[in-house]
Amino acid sequence: MDKLIVKDVDLKDKTVLMRVDFNVPQDAALNITDDTRIKAAVPTIKYVLENGARRLVLMSHLGRPDGKRVDKYSLRPVAQRLSGLLGEAVNFLDDCAGNEVKKAIDSSKERVILLENLRYHPEEEANDADFSKQLSSLADIYINDAFGTAHRAHASTEGVTHYLKAAAGLLLEKEIKYLGDALINPVRPFVVILGGSKVSDKIGVIENLLPKADCIIIGGGMSYTFLKAQGKQIGNSKLEKEKIDLAKNILEKAEELKKEILLPIDHVVVDNIAKDARYEVVGEIIPDGKIAVDIGPKTIALFKDKLRLAKTIVWNGPLGIFEMDVFSKGTEEIAEFIACLKCVSIIGGGDTAAAVSKFKLEDKMTHISTGGGASLEFLEGKILPGIVALTDK
Ligand code: 3PG
Repeated sequence: MDKLIVKDVDLKDKTVLMRVDFNVPQDAALNITDDTRIKAAVPTIKYVLENGARRLVLMSHLGRPDGKRVDKYSLRPVAQRLSGLLGEAVNFLDDCAGNEVKKAIDSSKERVILLENLRYHPEEEANDADFSKQLSSLADIYINDAFGTAHRAHASTEGVTHYLKAAAGLLLEKEIKYLGDALINPVRPFVVILGGSKVSDKIGVIENLLPKADCIIIGGGMSYTFLKAQGKQIGNSKLEKEKIDLAKNILEKAEELKKEILLPIDHVVVDNIAKDARYEVVGEIIPDGKIAVDIGPKTIALFKDKLRLAKTIVWNGPLGIFEMDVFSKGTEEIAEFIACLKCVSIIGGGDTAAAVSKFKLEDKMTHISTGGGASLEFLEGKILPGIVALTDK
């Protein structure tokens, strides 16, 4: 990594401003339902505190309040959870910029301070220079540990780096290492699994990874557009008509490059998508009126055969409607299989991370990204503004 990391900077007696991604899911009563992202920031928080920093000011967004104060997007519940995880009090401030905030930081009895949602201010997403300057005035040094937001050029991710020395946190460094190694120097065979509902979401990833991977396995909703492009009968399964030609091009390109693309060979189908819908397994031909909702047992076996030999696996997108237990078998069996392999297994954030967590396999994977959109853009080969803006070594 050619950027400064937290271990390169002197933290002694400094007030440290750290961007984290505490954009966590909550239920209707605002209970945090998954604190993975908070836990993922703890190593850098502890590192900063153990290395002499005077104060640590944490800032994040939560949800999309569109530049307005919206109570349900307050970070207050996160302060409580973080305090429990750290075993020390966290001072929660109900704003993130301005003189009052500065004063409250300077007189804080607690070493750890969490600011209120950055996106209550429209200037955050607008990457406003004055707002960036105000944020930077709160501290002596800036650390970005918010991989999940690294694809956004916002005041707290990009703007602030114009005014403070800016280093990557341990989580950001780890994400770049695992995702970057897989793209630049994967141990082969390198197999990519792509799923999820839309081809359009994954075009950039396919185009970037096709020349690099040895095989791309495609499942989930997006696979039916590919099957249609091969002239297969897909019944009423998810189809992006306007993407059929693109799918054809990708299949042709794979042939040219002598790369393998594996598609489902059998399917779990229903008449309508519902938890209690009657389902059956069909072969390659999906009858008229039927909707495919998961990969079938022959496909699971085919995919496992390919994965068995892999030394690097990158997985982005579930292979069926895993949120409904009856249609989660394909995603679950493949996740369990990967969990037992001796290989580097990298799980994209978002739905794939949620699936792995649902099956309680988090500890069995080499790396689970905390970024949904960010990991997708990284795999597309895009330059992430939050990373490129950090100070060069
Ligand atoms: C995410 O959950 O992907 C990040 O926190 C970024 O959120 P955003 O898509 O609202 O910018």
